[in-house]
Amino acid sequence: MLKNLKLGAKFTLILVIVFAGGLVASGTVLYQVLQQRAQTEVSAKAAILMETMNSVRAYSNSNLNPLIAPIAKVSPVFIPEQIPTYSLNRVFENLRKNDEYKSYFYKEAFLNPTNLRDKADDFETDLIKRFIAEPNTKEITGFRSQPGGKTFYVARPFIIKKASCLQCHSTPEAAPKNMIIAYGAENGFNWELNKVLGSQIITIPVDEVYTSANSAWWIVFGILAVIFLLLLVVINLLLKRNVTQRLSRMAQTADAVSTGSTEANFVEDAADEIGTLATAFNRMKSSLDIALKMLSQRD
Ligand code: HEC
Repeated sequence: MLKNLKLGAKFTLILVIVFAGGLVASGTVLYQVLQQRAQTEVSAKAAILMETMNSVRAYSNSNLNPLIAPIAKVSPVFIPEQIPTYSLNRVFENLRKNDEYKSYFYKEAFLNPTNLRDKADDFETDLIKRFIAEPNTKEITGFRSQPGGKTFYVARPFIIKKASCLQCHSTPEAAPKNMIIAYGAENGFNWELNKVLGSQIITIPVDEVYTSANSAWWIVFGILAVIFLLLLVVINLLLKRNVTQRLSRMAQTADAVSTGSTEANFVEDAADEIGTLATAFNRMKSSLDIALKMLSQRD
């Protein structure tokens, strides 16, 4: 099929096929690289937040609690600041006041929480059940479609290891009176040590990260497509100017020579291959002229 095409059409066709293949291949690779980068960015953000929250928890446990606990014990009103989770939630609320982080969430989702705000929803319950069933799973990450947009979550199992925690989470009788007054005696009890009771979950929005990855893809893909298109046009022009136009001119001259015209000359001043061909043709034409003259003289 290619044989029947003119040089220009043949070049264009082959270049279009090569460029289209190149565009599809580079577009696919670029897409994967950008998606991978977006995924890394999202997980890095979630990991930093998770570690920050754990640091706040450690600070609250080791620095704040010893100071507050003695006062909290004798206080008629329960002082929630002695509870790390309480501090963590306040810290996160402050973070969320920042516009950039208003769609970020932190939750210590529990099957049987003290504060019903921490009650695991269906999705979180499934995660906790997975942690219970798979004791070796230390982290579950994934994407979730939510009404506000797509989110990425990192969940870790929550296991209580300190017996001192059970003072408030074993039975209502063991818990401080002021706590029962504040929280009631129904929720957050009968917790057991070294068992998965809930999950720490960080949820961060991803739409923005992926939208910027997608627009980066369109920009680079667009630039590549324009470069390929320009190359196609330039190669075509060069081919026309330097090869096809000169070849058709030579074909016309050859036609004229073949029909006996002696004035027709292969005019080519370039020193490239076509120029050399023209010079060779001119020499051939002169030899032909001489041969013809000799033939006619013999008659
Ligand atoms: C003085 C009583 C008390 C002690 C001791 C205590 N907690 Fe709590 N815990 C609470 C209260 C009250 C809440 C609810 C706080 C709130 O409103 O955010 C709570 C909430 C929690 C939550 C969030 C889930 C939920 O139940 O709402 C976790 C997780 C938790 N505690 C773990 C621990 C761990 C781990 C320890 C031991 C280091 C501990 N607690 C010690 C009283 C206590």
